[in-house]
Parts: sequence; C-alpha cells; structure tokens
Amino acid sequence: MLATSNIFILARYELNCYSQPMTKKILILAGDGIGPEVTKQAVKILDKIGGFEIDYADIGGIGYDNHGHPYPEETKQKAKQADSILLGAVGGEKWDNLDFSLKPERGLLGIRKDLQLFANLRPAIVFDELVGASSLKEELVKGLDIMIVRELTGDIYFGEPRGIETRDGKRVGINTMIYDEDEVKRVSRVAFELAQKRGGKVCSVDKANVLEATLMWREEITKLHAAEFQDCQLSHMYVDNAAMQIIRQPKQFDVIVTGNIFGDILSDAAAMLTGSLGMLPSASLGDKYSLYEPVHGSAPDIAGQDKANPIATIMSLAMMFRYTFADGATADKIENACKAALAEGYRTGDIMQDGCKLAGTEEIGDLITAKI
Ligand code: IPM
Ligand code: MG
Repeated sequence: MLATSNIFILARYELNCYSQPMTKKILILAGDGIGPEVTKQAVKILDKIGGFEIDYADIGGIGYDNHGHPYPEETKQKAKQADSILLGAVGGEKWDNLDFSLKPERGLLGIRKDLQLFANLRPAIVFDELVGASSLKEELVKGLDIMIVRELTGDIYFGEPRGIETRDGKRVGINTMIYDEDEVKRVSRVAFELAQKRGGKVCSVDKANVLEATLMWREEITKLHAAEFQDCQLSHMYVDNAAMQIIRQPKQFDVIVTGNIFGDILSDAAAMLTGSLGMLPSASLGDKYSLYEPVHGSAPDIAGQDKANPIATIMSLAMMFRYTFADGATADKIENACKAALAEGYRTGDIMQDGCKLAGTEEIGDLITAKI
C-alpha cells in the first residue's frame, strides 16, 4: 500500500526524484469568493513550468449553483482521475440559508472524506520580510517554522450519531467525538516522518484528562513512538495549554499533531503568528489522493476586486510539488519566487507595511511567475 502513497513520497521527498516525462493532470477547484482569482495565479505558474494538463470543476457554493450539490458527481469523478488537486476556497453569505447538507462547507468536508485525505499539513512559517506583520513581538516569531498535522477525516466532524432532534419536548444537538486506533496511527506516522526531516520533535495535542477519545489517542501515539519512532522526541500537551503556548512561546514547537477539531482551532491561532492568513498554505494527504489549498477562506467582502493575497495558494502549489510530485527543487523555486517578490517590497493589502508597494492579486501573481 505504501509504495503508491503520498505518505511514502513524503518520507523521501528531499531525494528530489526528477519529474517523470508523463503529463500530470491537475484539477483546479476554484470554488467561491476569492477562490477563482487566487487559483488563477497558481495556474500562471503551472503554465510557465509546463507539462501539465489542467482541468476545472466546481465545488462549494458554485457547485450547488451549477449542479445542485456542493460536491457534485462530476467533480468526484474528475478528482479521482487527477494526479493532484488545487482548491481555492468555499463559502459565502449567499448560501447561508441552504440546508446544512447542501452548504458550501459540506463540499469541502465531502471531498476530504471521499478521497480519504486524513493528514492535513499546515505549516506556519514567518518570513523575515513579514516579521513586522505579526501581532506578536519580533523575537517571539522571527525564524518561526512549525508544522501542524491535523487529522482531517475523523473526530467530531464525522462521528455518529449526530444531528438535532427533540427529546422529551426539548431540542438537543448531538455530535460524537470518535477515533479508532488505525486513524490515530496513520496520522501520527505522518507527523513522525515529517519530524524526522525537521527538528525531530512531535508534540501530540489532546484533552486526555477529560475526553476518552483523546486518551486513546495519547496511548496509541505513545505505543507507536516506542515501537517505530524512538529517534523522535514525543511530548503531550492538553489542547487548552497548547492554545496558550502557541501564543506565548511558539518556537518551542516543531511538529504538532492533533485531531480534527483541535487542529482546526489551533491552526488558525498559529496562522496569525505569521501576520496574515493570506500567507498560509496547506496539504491534505491520503494514501492515494492529495489536495492542496490555502488555509484562508473565500473572503467574499474582497472577492473580484483584485485585492486578495495569492501567496497562500501559490505556496500550496509549492507543497504539491514537494509532497505529491517529490520535486523539492521546483517547490523551492516557487517558494523563493514568493520570497523575492516580498523582498522587493510588493504587498497585498493584508500584509501592507510602511514603505512597501501595494499590489493587486494579478500583479503579485505576475511578479512571482516572472521569477520562476
Ligand atoms: C478549515 C475550515 C473548514 C474546517 C470549514 C470551512 C469546513 O475551517 O479548513 O480549517 O472546519 O475544516
Ligand atoms: Mg478552520
């Protein structure tokens, strides 16, 4: 099973296998809000690099508008035929009143589950050029490089039973936090393999003092560590403390691994250490499929105005090269092009600083593309 998996590639990505001559198929799921304009900038880069077959499909609100479902059948088919997927963002007020099962967010959750993208990598890296954009003091964030590995297909997000019902004449809302040991082991393995390539430290975040699901998590990751990853250092932290430590002393972390709901919350907190959500890429990996997306949302308030920061999406593309195509050299080139544009002082509004040049989405996209 491992031989064909993204996770296997993950373990050897820095070997820089040369890309195979075969054309790679990339599916773009632009989605809603600023999704189309930010993914467009990544496509410019793919066109420049060449050798890719680009296809498009709908997801989220636009999926509902065009096909009556946020994760349409056609998108499902195309997703399974692609070598990798780049997603923009989903959601917007327009779809707020839809039935729960048809909301844009269900499209995102649907594709994660359908493709079994169980490991969500969310790096929080502070570029020297942007150290002033963080809300934290410079010495706390300068040089920061942490990796959050969030479990993405289990937990209270998908647990059964769930729903809203009436019991004894009173409405109750129900969700279930549940993990099985295999789900814990497979995502923990990804975290350890990443740590082996980085600082060698994994901090597992749980609420084992209160929630049995996460006590089981703690026991299983501890066993896995003892059996297979003694070259890494494993620590455990309760999620409330972790939220505090991420703000207090973020550089103490190397790799953080945690469940779906805790990872959702902690990754937004970690994102703000870097100054803007507009900078953060992510990878969602399974044994067979992979999807890359910026951590930010669809930002409907600035959609279509050429104001959105495309860097998170472009950095997500870099992650695609690194993890799915095992092409670290191209990933480095894309990341360096982003850094170069920032070093020259170009900024979108979200990261604007004194003395810098305000640029639009297209201009930043063109600048970065030109540097590759
Ligand atoms: C994220 C988002 C999603 C999540 C929403 C949009 C369903 O917040 O990717 O972090 O909760 O996973
Ligand atoms: Mg979130």
